[in-house]
Amino acid sequence: MSLHTLRRLGARVLSAVSRLFRRTLSPAERYREFNGRYFSDFYEQERMLADKPRMEFYRAAIQRHIQPGDRVIDLGTGTGILAALASRRGAAKVYAIDHSSILDTARTLAQANRIERVEFIDTHSTELSLSERVDVIVHEQMGDCLFDEAMVANVCDLRDRLLKPDGLILPSRFEFYCEPVKIRDQRHVPFIWELEVHGYDYAVLERQRPQEPTYYQVRSSDLSLVEHFLTEAAPALTIDLHTVNESALPPEVTFTRTVVHAGRLDGYAIYFRVLVDDDLRLSSGPLDPGRAPHWGFRILRTDRDDFAVGDTITVSLKVGSWSEVSSWRWSHVKRTPSRTERVNETSRAT
Ligand SMILES: C[S@@+](CC[C@H](N)C(=O)[O-])C[C@H]1O[C@@H](n2cnc3c(N)ncnc32)[C@H](O)[C@@H]1O
Repeated sequence: MSLHTLRRLGARVLSAVSRLFRRTLSPAERYREFNGRYFSDFYEQERMLADKPRMEFYRAAIQRHIQPGDRVIDLGTGTGILAALASRRGAAKVYAIDHSSILDTARTLAQANRIERVEFIDTHSTELSLSERVDVIVHEQMGDCLFDEAMVANVCDLRDRLLKPDGLILPSRFEFYCEPVKIRDQRHVPFIWELEVHGYDYAVLERQRPQEPTYYQVRSSDLSLVEHFLTEAAPALTIDLHTVNESALPPEVTFTRTVVHAGRLDGYAIYFRVLVDDDLRLSSGPLDPGRAPHWGFRILRTDRDDFAVGDTITVSLKVGSWSEVSSWRWSHVKRTPSRTERVNETSRAT
């Protein structure tokens, strides 16, 4: 058999084994494998570390809420930065865990920076066992869409098994936003069936709407994309990791708001805010000054709809699983108030 044939055979066997392997992994296991690889090199870590609002938020949160003598788990330590801040704050012991090979880098850095009382553990959090419960779990497990790095499942699992009953999760309070948005005209890309280019009409393609969920989402960190929100921003969902459970997250969120900025509805901007104290917050919102720049935001695209001030929009977001954005489905209903309703509204306001 020639070398060429042998190679081709080898490649086929390898690909068959890898297909078999992929089939036997659950979506959660596949994500876990992806996450471990994603965070293993310097590129992702340096983007997070260079994000000044993010790092200042965590420095202040640790300085305020970790007490000297505390025992701490740093869930997903990455390069070990939060473990180092906790140790310098006086934590008696920090268990710094990560399932990615970046943990070797964390060990090197801790040694070079003379960080003490940190034990690095190479494990996935769900497999961590300790002989004691801790005072604090510190973590940064927020994905662009808040839930898409399995934050709720991972933190709640550690909370239930390894946090003291009065222990602290840092951070714990989150607001999830799903804001009706208008994209700047020069950046707006309509669905293909909404286009007419020099008299060439694409409407017939509406029958062939793609099935892939990714077609209906735009990932971006480009702040020039968003022109304005149509309504006043308000959280679609708030959670506190001290009390929430993954199974208690609602399968659907629905809200009705009045339009305050007229314009074309192009989609919903998905982003989050993290709250530690009234004066200590972190945001990934595209219109928030001082937003943490390394997080992107997501636009869930909608069919074109034009809104006037005073119209109401009812948005419904249904989720198969909060941690799998491809399982999310959304829709909206527009309502334009009648003349009488508008007159009554005006007279109430005067
Ligand atoms: C967003 S990075 C944060 C890194 C670091 N804490 C920081 O603030 O710069 C998340 C890290 O958590 C790790 N990670 C994610 N899920 C994990 C899990 N369930 N168990 C252990 N490590 C995990 C990833 O490998 C990654 O290094």
